[in-house]
Amino acid sequence: MIIREAKDYNNMSRIGANIVSAQVILKKDSVLGLATGNTPIGVYKQLIKWNAKKDVDFSSVKTFNLDEYIGLSKENKNSYYSFMWSVFFKHINIERDNVYIPDGMAENISDECLSYESKIKQFGGIDLQVLGIGRNGHIGFNEPSDCFKRDTHAIDLTPSTVEANLSFFENAAKMPKSAITMGMGSIMRAKKILLLCSGKEKADVLNQAILGDIDPLIPASILQLHSDVTVVADAAALQIYKGNSK
Ligand code: F6R
Repeated sequence: MIIREAKDYNNMSRIGANIVSAQVILKKDSVLGLATGNTPIGVYKQLIKWNAKKDVDFSSVKTFNLDEYIGLSKENKNSYYSFMWSVFFKHINIERDNVYIPDGMAENISDECLSYESKIKQFGGIDLQVLGIGRNGHIGFNEPSDCFKRDTHAIDLTPSTVEANLSFFENAAKMPKSAITMGMGSIMRAKKILLLCSGKEKADVLNQAILGDIDPLIPASILQLHSDVTVVADAAALQIYKGNSK
């Protein structure tokens, strides 16, 4: 695992965007695994700028998002579909047909999970998976649990995740309490992983994920078993890790 310290959020975003664009420059038809949330927004903004300057070209890139809420339509402003299009996809030269996001409105959620997983395989797997980390150590929506779930599946969100994401919704009743997420196998099969992390409130969980036991109660700890993970985190997020790794 490579740990790369960034000065602050902007610097983390710049380094993260460099890693994503290097991937796309080296392999123009890369399959990218993408995350929503606050953490990767700066990376997406930087990539939009480089795409406008034609320094990075997304015309042959395929993307698979990590997760989507169950019960929110694509048009719902809080769906991850809406998030990805408004924050990133509509600003770059990606083909609409090359964008994959789980369908939270699918009639049969189990079938949707199976077909999502098989689409990833059909394209040869993910070349670079971008991840954020939840305050409880989740990646995607793989919540702390007594086991690691392998493939794309439906989950119930934990109270801590509901609390962390509630501010996006008008009220608690409007926030879905379940989601579709790629599983740990789906993530771990990616050839490369980029974990982004910013802020002191993530310092403790990031330290546990990197230095602690591999434990499904800290889902991100499984990344220790992957052979090509780069963590790009700002100084605040690395505070505790740096004290413990001396
Ligand atoms: C988002 C996702 C989540 C977030 C995590 C961190 O697609 O899969 O695991 O990466 O909840 O969220 P932020 O970046 O908002 O702190």
